[in-house]
This record gives sequence, C-alpha cells and structure tokens, in this order.
Amino acid sequence: MFLRNLYRTSVKLNIRNYSHNNLLKSPPKILITGGLGQLGVECAKYLRKKYGRDNVILSDIIKPTQDIVNDGPYIFVDILDFKGLQKIVVDHRVDWLIHFSALLSAIGEQNVSLAVRVNIEGVHNVIELAKQYNLRIFVPSTIGAFGPDSPRNPTPNITIQRPRTIYGVSKVHAELMGEYYYHKFGLDFRCLRFPGVISSDPPGGGTTDYAIAIFHEVLRKGHYECYLKPDTRLPMMHVKDALRALSEYLAVPNENLTRRVYNVTAMDFTPEELTDKMAAYLPELKITYRPDSRQDIADSWPQVFDDSEARRDWNWKPQVDLDELVKLMIKEVKEKIIANGS
Ligand SMILES: NC(=O)c1ccc[n+]([C@@H]2O[C@H](COP(=O)([O-])OP(=O)(O)OC[C@H]3O[C@@H](n4cnc5c(N)ncnc54)[C@H](O)[C@@H]3O)[C@@H](O)[C@H]2O)c1
Repeated sequence: MFLRNLYRTSVKLNIRNYSHNNLLKSPPKILITGGLGQLGVECAKYLRKKYGRDNVILSDIIKPTQDIVNDGPYIFVDILDFKGLQKIVVDHRVDWLIHFSALLSAIGEQNVSLAVRVNIEGVHNVIELAKQYNLRIFVPSTIGAFGPDSPRNPTPNITIQRPRTIYGVSKVHAELMGEYYYHKFGLDFRCLRFPGVISSDPPGGGTTDYAIAIFHEVLRKGHYECYLKPDTRLPMMHVKDALRALSEYLAVPNENLTRRVYNVTAMDFTPEELTDKMAAYLPELKITYRPDSRQDIADSWPQVFDDSEARRDWNWKPQVDLDELVKLMIKEVKEKIIANGS
C-alpha cells in the first residue's frame, strides 16, 4: 500500500515536472475555444506571432472560411462535450487554454437556457479539464459582471457584484469557480474583466456593440441609429490593447499576481463624445438615438473602470486612447468595406 502510494506520488510529480520543464523549454501549445467570434481570430494572429503558427490552435463549432484555415491550425471543439475536450488536450498536447466560447449580454437575454448551458456548463467543463491536465486557463470576464448595486464611477476590482443579466451572472460564476479551483487545487486560473472591446470585426451581440456598428454604418451610409442614449458612459478598449493585456497577463509569473481576476480598461466615453471625435474626420455624419432594452443593461454597468490593481501587479498600461481609437477604426473599417466590396 505504502509502495503503491509512493509510486503514484512520484508519477504525479514526474508529470508535473515534465509539463513545467516542457513549458520552460518550448513555447506553450495554446487552444482557443469559441475562436471564430470577435476576439478569437485576432487573438490567434497575435499569439501566433509570439509563440509560432502551429502552437496556437483555433477552435469553434462554426465552419471556418478558407482564410482561417490558411492562417493556422483550426479544429472543431464543442465545449459542452467533455470527452471531446479531453481528447483534444491529449492529442494536441495542450498547455494553455483560452476560453472564449460564450453567449454575450444581449444575445444571452434572448436565449437564457442556451446561455446557461454555454456560459455555465461550458465553464464547468473547461475548468475541470484544466485541473485534470494541469493547464493554465484564461477565461475573460466583463464589466457586465457588475450590476446596479455596484459603484459605477469608478468600479474597483473588488466590490459588490449583483448583475441582472444571465451573461453577468454566468461571468461572476466563472470568476468564483476559477478562484475556488485556484485555492482548492492550485489551478492556474487567470481572468481579466474586459470593457467593451472595439475592433473592425463584427461584434457578437453585446451591449457595447454600438461603438463598432457606428463606424460601419456611418462609413457605408453616413447615418447611424444608436440604441443607447447619447450620455450613456461605458468603459471601452481597442482590440490591440485587449489582446496585449491578455498576452502580457498570461506570461506573468504566478508569484507576481495578488489576484486571479483583474479589471482592465483603456478609456470611457458616451455615444455623443464618440460622435464628436468622429465628426472631425467625417463631418457629414448623422446620428439619431432610439434606446432599446440594451439601455437598461448599460444603465446597470460600470461607467468608469478602475484597473489600478492590474497596473500595480503586472504593469498593465493601455496604449490606444479615444483619438487613436477613432483614427484606427476609420482606417480599419474602410479597409474591410473595400475588401468585402460593400
Ligand atoms: N467582445 C467584447 O467586447 C467582450 C468584452 C468582455 C468580455 N468578452 C468575452 O470574451 C469572450 C469572446 O468574446 P467575443 O466577443 O469574441 O464573443 P463572440 O460572441 O463573438 O464569440 C463567441 C464564440 O463562441 C462560440 N460558441 C458558442 N457556443 C459554443 C460551443 N458550444 N462550443 C464552442 N464554441 C461555442 C460561437 O460560435 C462564437 O464564435 C467571451 O467570453 C466574452 O464574454 C468580450
């Protein structure tokens, strides 16, 4: 009995040492779930530059375009299929898991039972998987993990979280599960609470999507009808900063981290302030306002996000401010429109 336990312990230690040494020697093998959404494709491009094309595997349940397949490894992964996840981690010798699969805030409210499955059961699967195979796991959270009882200006890293959307509830759940597994089992769980992420790619049905749609609509038609009131302030970040934050945070040694979950942000603005900046480049633009149910969601979310703990612990610092964001978006969206011929 004693010998058997000794053998088991030494096998466990060897596995741990092997994967630790392996990480030191060669770049990590990274799997991105939900990779064909707004963030995944760009994230794969970013991390492939850093860790090598074949070390970053993009996955989703959606059929990819030829461009995606040409860019690097792409496979089918349904996060609700635990055995399938196990097989992929084993077959591809995955070290880090970046878990993007989710139903976002506005879409989640339209299909609560699916959001519960994808956002809660899916998180159970990937966290358990990461524990079993000793993976470093990144799960993004959001400003939507706060609610009307949270201080909104500014919203600190640790405060009351009583969100009123299934998206927010599922993200608080993910944060707590990850922290629990970290304390209980030593799981290397890492989580950033992102604000609205702005890129030229189509957004996935969130409440901050207007800040992307406005560029597409104005550049195509000169006009945009905004579903939020002109003075609705929300925290935001360009995708370049979001991916840099993710990449830098994933590389921080564990001993530098005082938390597993950090707020990160770059700026905050209202639709009116964004429009004023855009008008410097597009003086003919016309914006009208017709608030819908997303206004209630936005009214319960942080207006100004306090990311001082990320700045302190791992030197987080955004690079893209509102002026730069507007310049970048006009350029990038114009290029997309020309490339798509519409
Ligand atoms: N985009 C933002 O502004 C923002 C802000 C804060 C946090 N986040 C978080 O970042 C992550 C990525 O966001 P995004 O904007 O790219 O989302 P998205 O909605 O654009 O993409 C999510 C992807 O998940 C996939 N998916 C759905 N069900 C799945 C399943 N069963 N198995 C595997 N994949 C499945 C979808 O096909 C989709 O491609 C999400 O967790 C989101 O909560 C995003």
